[in-house]
Amino acid sequence: MKIIKVADSTEMSKTAGEMIAEKVRANPEIVLGLATGGTPVGTYQYLIEDHRKKGTSYSRVSSVNLDEYIGLPKTDPNSYYSFMKTNLFDHLDINPEQTFIPDGSAADLEEECANYERKIAALGGVDLQLLGIGRNGHIAFNEPGTPFESRTHVISLAEDTIKDNARFFSSPEEVPTKAITMGIATILESKEIILLATGKSKAEALYSLVKGEVTEDFPASILQRHGNVTIIADEDALSLI
Ligand code: F6R
Repeated sequence: MKIIKVADSTEMSKTAGEMIAEKVRANPEIVLGLATGGTPVGTYQYLIEDHRKKGTSYSRVSSVNLDEYIGLPKTDPNSYYSFMKTNLFDHLDINPEQTFIPDGSAADLEEECANYERKIAALGGVDLQLLGIGRNGHIAFNEPGTPFESRTHVISLAEDTIKDNARFFSSPEEVPTKAITMGIATILESKEIILLATGKSKAEALYSLVKGEVTEDFPASILQRHGNVTIIADEDALSLI
């Protein structure tokens, strides 16, 4: 694992944004795996700025998102569909039909999971996957205990995750309790992974990710077995390493 230590979240966003924009310019048909949450927002702002100023084009890029809540309509401002439109897609020249997010409102969720796997395979897999990390070690919404061989599936969110994500809702009761998430095996098939983290609240998680035992109790630990992972994190998040 390569670790890039930066001063703060501004520098993290710039470093990650530069890396991603560079890869898009080198491979205009790249398949990007994208994350939501607080951590990647600055990176997305960098990509938007870079698109405006340097003209990096996304017209032939495809994207697949890691996860989506179950039980929120797409139009809900807290759905990851809305998040991606607001924070990224609406500001790039990406073709909306080439952006994929699991449908958390699908009538048949199992079928939707299988379809999502088929979509990723039809795209030829993910070239570059962007990840955040939960304090409990989740990647995407693969909570502790999720089998390493899991593929896209329905998951019940951990109490900690619901508490952490309540900051985006008016009350914790409004946070959906279930989601569709890419599985660990799905994520591990990405050719390259960039994981972002900032702040002291992620320091223990980063310690376990880099130095801990590889165990399903801490899903992110499996990244130790992937050959092409870059962690870009600030000094606070790396303070225990
Ligand atoms: C989001 C996702 C999650 C987040 C993680 C960290 O699509 O898959 O794994 O990356 O919960 O969230 P933040 O960035 O809000 O700390």
